[in-house]
Amino acid sequence: MSRIHGVIGPTARGVEFWDREREIGQIWKALETSSILLTAPRRFGKTSLMLRLMDQPQDGWWAFFFEVEAVDRPEAFITEIIRTLLRDQRLDRWARQSKKFFGKLANRIEEIELAGTRVSLREQPAPHWQETGRELIERLRGLETKIILIIDEFPLMLERIHKKDNLAAHELLSWLRSLRQNPDLHEKIRWVMGGSIGIEHVLRRIGAGIKEINDLERIHVREFSQDSAREFIQALLRSAGVQRISREILDKFLEVIDIPIPYFIQILVCESLNEMKLQNKRTLSKEMIEQAYENGLLDLYGRRYFEHYYKRLRDYYDPEMADTAKALLTEIARRGSLTKRELWTKFQAHMKGQGDADTFSHLLSDLENDFYLVGDHGRQRFRFATKVLRDWWLRHHAL
Ligand SMILES: Nc1ncnc2c1ncn2[C@@H]1O[C@H](COP(=O)(O)OP(=O)(O)O)[C@@H](O)[C@H]1O
Ligand SMILES: [Mg+2]
Repeated sequence: MSRIHGVIGPTARGVEFWDREREIGQIWKALETSSILLTAPRRFGKTSLMLRLMDQPQDGWWAFFFEVEAVDRPEAFITEIIRTLLRDQRLDRWARQSKKFFGKLANRIEEIELAGTRVSLREQPAPHWQETGRELIERLRGLETKIILIIDEFPLMLERIHKKDNLAAHELLSWLRSLRQNPDLHEKIRWVMGGSIGIEHVLRRIGAGIKEINDLERIHVREFSQDSAREFIQALLRSAGVQRISREILDKFLEVIDIPIPYFIQILVCESLNEMKLQNKRTLSKEMIEQAYENGLLDLYGRRYFEHYYKRLRDYYDPEMADTAKALLTEIARRGSLTKRELWTKFQAHMKGQGDADTFSHLLSDLENDFYLVGDHGRQRFRFATKVLRDWWLRHHAL
């Protein structure tokens, strides 16, 4: 079994990266014909997976990853693409060949190294970002490989742009769509968009239709399989020098974790090892794993990880609606699951007669799309998406 380093928080790369064979297979298959929307809650492993495409692409493909966390205008988005492409050594020759094009932009973006010579590119809103961006992307067709352009946290970027300038958000959506649908570009270029929050919600808020993105093939990043999780835990423990790992202990890990999300596995293993060291032992006990869950996962990490689930409701809705959402979540946390009818009754009571069926139905789908809830039996019964979130909600927000 290979040695693997545990990592909590930063992306998992190289030897830290475990499994994901299912998703990787799905992604490459989808990329043959389309661009992709890669969805999952925060910390499920999207970014790690995207970087894997870049680090270990299939033959004939190159992938580029853009840092768009600070982007709040389309111009800044184009700038970021330029910046990343010009820094990439694989593109040195291409950049030299495109010197004239970049020269034209010279006084627009900040100083940047271009194939040995420094071109001064000052950041200023490009007056024609659409044309500049389009020409840039078209130039990539000159490469011999196929290209994947990766935009992580796309819905969040869109939302930031929309907050500054709604029209700009619409323009960017259509611009991206038109590039994806251009047959000449499609021959060589694919986009992979990542998202931790439901894009439907963002589109609705900016007043754009789902048609803007319905050409993207959706791939959902899931938890590990039970077998893969078991082997992963074993590998992490072995690498940390734990000698005897009984089947019972592995079962305990899986039972406590419930849905084996890699991030939670990493935390639970790390915290269990801490607990073991604290007790001066060389093997793990079930109690140590329970302790690690209660104190490490739910408290220490949970505070940072889950708080945004709580706060986000306030960003999305007016205070009354946010309170209603919280009340519904608390009730579901307490009882395990509720039928749609029961939730509707509670919703109406909370909204004091002001809540209509459409609002209710949007709220439920938002909570599903944003990974709070899962609807079973044809969406007639709702429960928390993960046991960990439910336990955390019960502990911190169900007074
Ligand atoms: N393939 C993987 N192998 C091992 N650990 C992983 C893997 N994917 C995710 N993780 C764990 O999850 C954490 C978050 O991963 P990341 O890729 O940043 O998720 P996301 O982009 O969905 O928020 C990592 O710090 C690591 O602990
Ligand atoms: Mg990420």
